[in-house]
Amino acid sequence: MAVDPITPKNITPPSGVAHWTPSEWRSHPRHQMPDWPDSQMLKEATTELGSYPPLVFAGEARTLTRELARVAQGEAFLLQAGDCAESFAEFAADDIRDKLKVILQMAVVLTYGAGLPVVKVGRIAGQFAKPRSSPTERVGDLELPSFRGHIINDDAPNPAARIADPQRMLRAYNHSAATLNLLRAFTKGGFADLSQVHAWNQEFVATSDQGRRYETIAGEIDRALAFMRACGIDLRAESTIQQVEFYTSHEALLLDYEEALTRRDSLTGDWYDCSAHLLWVGERTRQLDGAHLAFLAGVRNPLGVKLGPTTTAEEALAICEKLNPERIPGRLMLTTRLGAGHVRELLPPLVSAVTEAGHPVVWQCDPMHGNTIAAEGGRKTRRFDDVLSEIRDFFAVHHDLGTWPGGVHVELTGDSVTECLGGADEILESDLPLRYTTTCDPRLNARQSIDLAFRVAELLRV
Ligand code: PEP
Ligand code: CO
Repeated sequence: MAVDPITPKNITPPSGVAHWTPSEWRSHPRHQMPDWPDSQMLKEATTELGSYPPLVFAGEARTLTRELARVAQGEAFLLQAGDCAESFAEFAADDIRDKLKVILQMAVVLTYGAGLPVVKVGRIAGQFAKPRSSPTERVGDLELPSFRGHIINDDAPNPAARIADPQRMLRAYNHSAATLNLLRAFTKGGFADLSQVHAWNQEFVATSDQGRRYETIAGEIDRALAFMRACGIDLRAESTIQQVEFYTSHEALLLDYEEALTRRDSLTGDWYDCSAHLLWVGERTRQLDGAHLAFLAGVRNPLGVKLGPTTTAEEALAICEKLNPERIPGRLMLTTRLGAGHVRELLPPLVSAVTEAGHPVVWQCDPMHGNTIAAEGGRKTRRFDDVLSEIRDFFAVHHDLGTWPGGVHVELTGDSVTECLGGADEILESDLPLRYTTTCDPRLNARQSIDLAFRVAELLRV
């Protein structure tokens, strides 16, 4: 085990953050954090959390940093995908398996279609805290405190459910541990073996055009594996065929939780936030002097920062300087979510400034969060065509500037939900109520996700 929760003596602090501690953020202005009504209960919960084992190990986070360095250098592609908000209520093994299946299918389409290694990161096993545009929301006739994710309060529409409850952090930890356990079993225990590619195709995907296209690739992979076997290659000895490296990530929003899971690595003396391999900071909490950047600057995990349409080149540069002053490749990812129609104007200045300053970032496109619209009746939705258009323009800008469009970041589920409009199934506004189950933002369903993977693979081939 690489992480020692007891602070070892005689270790060298990481450069640039010599005096940093996991509670550093407390002296900075905080945004989007809940008002805990009972500080004693909060203290008890975080103390207990601080005594729990790490969910991930420092060595794994370092491996992901190395893989992301390959992405930054244009030698690999990053697929980051999962729920907008995980739910305490949706926790069955089948839900987790189906989400993993669709991510594995997308990764196969991308790897096979583009001939590139694909780094796979889930928005999973900890994606429980949500920033909100308003502290209150209207549900029917009621004005309630906003739902902030199951790690903080409950989505039930009554005032008691909306009170921030610190015990929920312990539940979130347990849900994350169980999810991670299952993910590790699925990805290391045979389910993710490349000879299983057909088994990842769920019935409702398999019966669609995208499913049939996927089956063609799966058949070609079967033949390639049979060829290798016939050549005398022992595939059972090849862990790269039998197992998949799958990493976890979430928005590091609830800093009480993140602090409690931050531990010092006994090998290097560096601090790691052991709640996930990769942490990102959202568009609403990326203030330069704010608590979230102050926290993330001190942990050595690979990091992401969301950049919305108001981001200036100066801000992007200052974020790079703050989070990656040593310019370590793979340490920092900038995730743009500018909105379809804005990318060609807004992205070039950001990319040029960061590139000219010599910052080796991973550029990632989140085509979801700049494209949320309200359908009739107020339901949040997104158009598949807008999602695709933002990705296309992201690729075009990077192509023009000679930089690498490193990855995509999508909200999806393995189910046949009707939350995003369009796609090959042509989901209409009138279809949205049929299967709209998200606790937060609208997600691509499995067919739309596979469709998107084929489109991105085509862009990568150009
Ligand atoms: C999210 O990723 O769910 C999110 C809230 O994104 P952003 O910070 O980009 O709005
Ligand atoms: Co979201």
